[in-house]
Amino acid sequence: MHHFDRIDGALHAEGVPLEALAQAVGTPAYVYSTATLTRHYRLLRESLDSRRPALGEALIAFAVKANSNVAVLQTLARLGCGADTVSEGEIRRALAAGVPGERIIFSGVGKTDAELAFAIETGVRQINVESAVELDRLIAVAAAKGTAPSVAIRVNPAIGAGGHARITTGGATDKFGVPMDQALDLYARASASLHVEPVGLACHIGSQITTLAPLEAAFRALREMTLTLRAQGFSVTRLDLGGGLGVPYHGQTDLPSIEDYVAMTAAVLEGLEIEAAFEPGRLLAANAGVLLSRVIQINAREDGRRFLVLDAGMNDLMRPALYDAFHDLVPVRAREGQPRLYDLVGPICESTDIFARDRSLPPLEAEDLVAFMGAGAYGAVLSSEYNSRPLVPEVLVNGDRWAVVRARPSYEAMLAAEARPDWLR
Ligand code: LLP
Repeated sequence: MHHFDRIDGALHAEGVPLEALAQAVGTPAYVYSTATLTRHYRLLRESLDSRRPALGEALIAFAVKANSNVAVLQTLARLGCGADTVSEGEIRRALAAGVPGERIIFSGVGKTDAELAFAIETGVRQINVESAVELDRLIAVAAAKGTAPSVAIRVNPAIGAGGHARITTGGATDKFGVPMDQALDLYARASASLHVEPVGLACHIGSQITTLAPLEAAFRALREMTLTLRAQGFSVTRLDLGGGLGVPYHGQTDLPSIEDYVAMTAAVLEGLEIEAAFEPGRLLAANAGVLLSRVIQINAREDGRRFLVLDAGMNDLMRPALYDAFHDLVPVRAREGQPRLYDLVGPICESTDIFARDRSLPPLEAEDLVAFMGAGAYGAVLSSEYNSRPLVPEVLVNGDRWAVVRARPSYEAMLAAEARPDWLR
């Protein structure tokens, strides 16, 4: 579900024509919809609230890595959303967006001592510990500060899942989390320390997961571990269930709904009396954004192959190059005519700068505006200046209003970020 619809043949973001935005800010540009972010958050919130006995207050901690624009984060924070963060930079963004420390979770497989110290000073809700060595370092950092931060042990349940092998995190050979048997020992070790307070377990098995079965298996494992730990006399009050639920990039109608996901989770955790946390990224943000682009030209080959050369490249939207990801491309102005097959490519000098092969689209021309759909998560955040292309700007729409929430840097600003050493002056 999203709020990018056609009005009189022209694609709009809520009440704002994308043509007007292209005119005002240029292309390529990311455009986000406040109504879509809000709707997704509310659907999840209402669904969780209806299962309060099984899931407790249930924190929704948006995975900041999916879309870290501060205006986007603030839109969610005002609704009560928390933040799942994996770096000091992300914690700082969440704070700048008004997320209180008690709603910030600090995850990540390689947190530095400085980042751990920063998280403690911030008073984050919990630090998800991913290894024994990290626990030792955290204890040392906390001891030096004379504090005892709340921690959850991130479990690797040896259940990997996800839309692509490169976005699976819960498999036994993935670098994330602690194997289940060791997690129990680690919990005991954490409990014995005066400088951390173990409150629960965490897991996140992958991303763009399109069936509930692997998530259910992972949550069952967490349930069993909770019961085991409690039987050993340890207190376990929180379970962080990660993110990972997939979205319909292909317009699929058979994906588990938010309601199904929450119902499954509540059924698995029934009776445990825990406080659940969820870390959705894609679910809240993917369909809340598009990447607006313009056709530079069409390179037609004699063999019939047609390359639609766009002004957006893999540096602006990495997902197809990294994960063979599918993003629907739609003309901003509805076009008539017999569909044709196009290879969608960017201007970058790399063969991986191809968004899709043989995509069927109505006839398009140079200068036409097009939009990549479902680009609100893992879009702008993964962009780079490769080929010395200034970072793509971001625009947030709210009803009939819009604002540039990250400006496109000028070439001067791009060059000014670099300095020449003495010997070259
Ligand atoms: N929690 C943790 C600990 C995570 O590592 C992630 C994502 C999430 C939550 C949010 O997962 P989501 O709900 O968005 O699936 N760049 C890839 C996705 C990488 C996901 C990394 N971790 C892509 O564009 O598909």
